Amino acid sequence: MKLPRAWRTGLREVPGSPGGERQHAGAVSESRPLLEVNMLTAGYGGPTIIADVCLTARTGHLTAIVGPNGAGKSTLIKAIAGIVKPTSGTVRLNGEDVTGSPPQNLARRGMSYIPQVANVFPSLTVQENLEMGGYVLRGGIREKIEELYETFPDLRDARRRQARTLSGGQRSMLAIGRGLMSNPAILLLDEPTAGLAPRFLETVWEQIATIRTLGVAVIVVEQNTRRTLAYADWAYVLVAGKNQLEGAGTDLLEDDEVEKLYIGKV
Ligand SMILES: Nc1ncnc2c1ncn2[C@@H]1O[C@H](COP(=O)(O)OP(=O)(O)O)[C@@H](O)[C@H]1O
Ligand SMILES: [Mg+2]
Repeated sequence: MKLPRAWRTGLREVPGSPGGERQHAGAVSESRPLLEVNMLTAGYGGPTIIADVCLTARTGHLTAIVGPNGAGKSTLIKAIAGIVKPTSGTVRLNGEDVTGSPPQNLARRGMSYIPQVANVFPSLTVQENLEMGGYVLRGGIREKIEELYETFPDLRDARRRQARTLSGGQRSMLAIGRGLMSNPAILLLDEPTAGLAPRFLETVWEQIATIRTLGVAVIVVEQNTRRTLAYADWAYVLVAGKNQLEGAGTDLLEDDEVEKLYIGKV
């Protein structure tokens, strides 16, 4: 008997589609969900941009949101981070309903959001940028910066340089480092490798993968689907503002349909 594709691969189809499964099928469900997004709907006052989106992110896991340009990936991440107000649905952080909470409030509760652009201060040095990132800490900024320098030595080497003089890879790492300065429980990264020269991609991804081991839940939005899926513990494919498919990154990567529709052969 031929099994439905979602069963064979362990992928989860969207609710309502043939062979749909409501439960995570995967090997990565053992750590606790830190973020639970349920039926989230949001827009910018005009048409609905994301509709009924569901997503779970776990501590120690890299959760990816991939999909074509204009799919609503940035809108989804902004709705989670409190920058766009959802019109319906819920966002739960550590079991607590935080739907519609303002960004500062979410930051205090351990959420750190790094936008795609304007994510560092170009005229400040690396160290000054990191200090700014630690503004929600009550103390211990020096220690936190030291800790980051231990994990990401490139930042220590560049600590006195103005951010605008950094390479693309260093600048991405600085933006991520700033996000880590607040000791987040969850880090949301919107296209952290967009526009990077190919030679920097692997390094930045390696470092993003390292963040998982710091006990942080990491959510990454990317269009660079193949590499993203290769690193993701769990990934969601978002198309036209809706959940299309989800699964373990490597399962999605090996799926013919995903390849044909969203990745291409390159
Ligand atoms: N600030 C905004 N105001 C109105 N519409 C927006 C705004 N930002 C994005 N959109 C629209 O929302 C849709 C999804 O955009 P976005 O979330 O940026 O997609 P993605 O990040 O997947 O490329 C697009 O049609 C875009 O034009
Ligand atoms: Mg975007």
